[in-house]
Amino acid sequence: MAGCGLGTDLRHNLTWQSLQPREARWAQLGQRPAIAWLTGLSGAGKSSIADAVDRALNQAGLHGMVLDGDNVRYGLNRDLGFSDADRRENIRRVAETARLMAEAGLYVIVSLISPFRTEREAARASAGDIPFLEVFIDTPLGLCEARDPKGLYVRARAGEIAGFTGISAPYEAPLAPDLTIATEGRSIRDSAAPVIARLAALCRPERER
Ligand code: ADX
Repeated sequence: MAGCGLGTDLRHNLTWQSLQPREARWAQLGQRPAIAWLTGLSGAGKSSIADAVDRALNQAGLHGMVLDGDNVRYGLNRDLGFSDADRRENIRRVAETARLMAEAGLYVIVSLISPFRTEREAARASAGDIPFLEVFIDTPLGLCEARDPKGLYVRARAGEIAGFTGISAPYEAPLAPDLTIATEGRSIRDSAAPVIARLAALCRPERER
């Protein structure tokens, strides 16, 4: 497998197919891809910030996609729940999807609680040489709970939702994120700005480099 070094996989009778080089796709789109991986508690603001980043980059003429935890769970990951094992699989699939979209030339903004450090590191590894920014959306639990945009914290506190992140399931904050966005007292626009700047610099067309 080009980039994976597998060649013919005799155990599974698989052979990596050599296809059009990704650089041809990137050249046609006129941009380089990158992945921004937004992690944080439910209600931290990940989805709103991801959407604001996406809209700004799109307006600037760049091409991309948002992979949002809730939305992906309506389709690709509809068979997964919130056990540790299912969350790990959720993260793995989203990481693979992000990599594929990036290979196609898109910037990808992931907004996923992704509570486990090991799986976030695996997501970075699966991006290979595609630039990967781990962005910690750093909103204190108390503020997420006060916002409670989906009414889930109230239900989790009432014992109606088992294993809710931050309440009865763990969240492992990043130790060395590429970016930390402290959202308390900041607008969505201001929170999105540093992510927009970093992604735009990574994705800008070759001719502008
Ligand atoms: S992750 O932990 O597997 O990364 P993901 O980002 O896909 O989570 O989904 C989180 C969303 O699912 C939350 O924003 C919330 O709307 C919903 N949700 C439902 N049950 C839970 C739960 N037990 N813990 C956290 N979020 C939950």
